[in-house]
Amino acid sequence: MFPLFLLIKLAARRVNTYNLKRVMKADLIIQNAEQLVTCASNFKPKRLAEMQDVGIIENGAIAIIEDKIVGVGKSREIHRQFESENVIDAQSKVVCPAFVDPHTHVVFAGNRLDEFELKIRGADYLEILENGGGILSTVRQTREASLKDLVEQSRKRLDKLLGLGVTTCEVKTGYGLDTETELKMLAAIFALDKIHAVDLIPTFLPAHAVPPEYKGNENDYVHLICNEMLPGAARLFALDKIDFDKIKPQTAAGAEGAGIDSYRFSGSAWLSVMQNNPFFVDVFCEKNAFNLEQSKRVLEAGKRFGMKMKAHVDEFTNLGGARMAIELGATSIDHLDATSDEEIELLANSNTIGIVTPTVNFNFGSCEFADARKMIDAGCAIAVSTDYNPGSAPCPSQALAMAIACRYQKLLPSEALNAATINAAFAVGLGDKIGSLEIGKRADILILDTIDYRETAYEFGGNLVEKVFKNGKIVHEN
Ligand code: NIG
Ligand code: FE
Repeated sequence: MFPLFLLIKLAARRVNTYNLKRVMKADLIIQNAEQLVTCASNFKPKRLAEMQDVGIIENGAIAIIEDKIVGVGKSREIHRQFESENVIDAQSKVVCPAFVDPHTHVVFAGNRLDEFELKIRGADYLEILENGGGILSTVRQTREASLKDLVEQSRKRLDKLLGLGVTTCEVKTGYGLDTETELKMLAAIFALDKIHAVDLIPTFLPAHAVPPEYKGNENDYVHLICNEMLPGAARLFALDKIDFDKIKPQTAAGAEGAGIDSYRFSGSAWLSVMQNNPFFVDVFCEKNAFNLEQSKRVLEAGKRFGMKMKAHVDEFTNLGGARMAIELGATSIDHLDATSDEEIELLANSNTIGIVTPTVNFNFGSCEFADARKMIDAGCAIAVSTDYNPGSAPCPSQALAMAIACRYQKLLPSEALNAATINAAFAVGLGDKIGSLEIGKRADILILDTIDYRETAYEFGGNLVEKVFKNGKIVHEN
């Protein structure tokens, strides 16, 4: 028999070793969430029944080191594993992943208030475009704006997105339609990404509309896109993202006066830059915009630069764009109002994410919506976006997009939340980094002023966001 005092001593030593081994110092702990809504997906997009599971941990907490999530669990478990001098009490509210908005056009100049009135009086969106208005009216205003002006006007829209809980948004060019203005828009996106808390994922969309200069010569414009605009965009992206200090210039070419073209980097180095910094090419495959063949040319040209692909398809007319983009391996196809059953089947069996834009139909006062219910039931990975833009959807709120998706596309609040977080993250090529509260992901988190996550889609026209964390730091409080 062991003497009692020896047993107690041994046990005490074990507890100490246990504690020493297990208790880690975290930079931040967020504790006491009534619902810690993780949207955890095990690093794949959600489909079918997974869409209805938002991964709730009651009385949950989350531990963060630097910008990453290191612990997710019940508050008492997290406190057993971590300690921190910086503990935020969620006061029995909801803690969930920050929203990701996977389809926006937030960089533009001016507004389309006159068109708003024309539409109320019965004018049709594509007819307005055909008559030189719509997208082309924003093109005129964006061409006239200086880079500084464009950045300033767009910064205010990003402030709104952040206040509404978005910490990452995809942003398209497409209001330049000439090389100079398309690259100015791209420069504005890169600048905003640096100065704003919201992360911007750039998408190059010179094939958004046919510029007036090329009306009747659409193929020549596509030629310009493939041979001048896309190479220009790739060069600008390289200048922005490549660390030139780590690359040796060609011998004499590094000398005074030598530009970016004097640097040679291998195809694999370029692809790894593209993999870590998603950069998309997109096209508006639609009547009065780009036909199937032209759309394919643009996407294939972007793909040759290592760009990932997106496509606006079936917003009004089915030109076969969904099949074409899925077959090319597009990351997402967007809108999907006129998508056929066979294409839904194809989408369900692909890695492409379907992005729906219910704010557009709402904005048109329409009662017809993309059949997202059918798509989810068929096994498609569906994401929701605001499509925030001056014409078809002047709407910065992912929560409102979710609210409309629930009412008109018959998504459950759980499905809408997964569509606006984890699946949206996959739709911008960042599903392994953001969109859910899982260990290893970036600490992009919301505290919502509610005890039940379903209120995000139930209430509309308000804002439940109380605190926004980006990379583990508070970047906004309402
Ligand atoms: O996603 N459909 C094309 N592009 C945008 C509209 C842009 C605009 O009207 O300014 C969209 O709906
Ligand atoms: Fe769009």
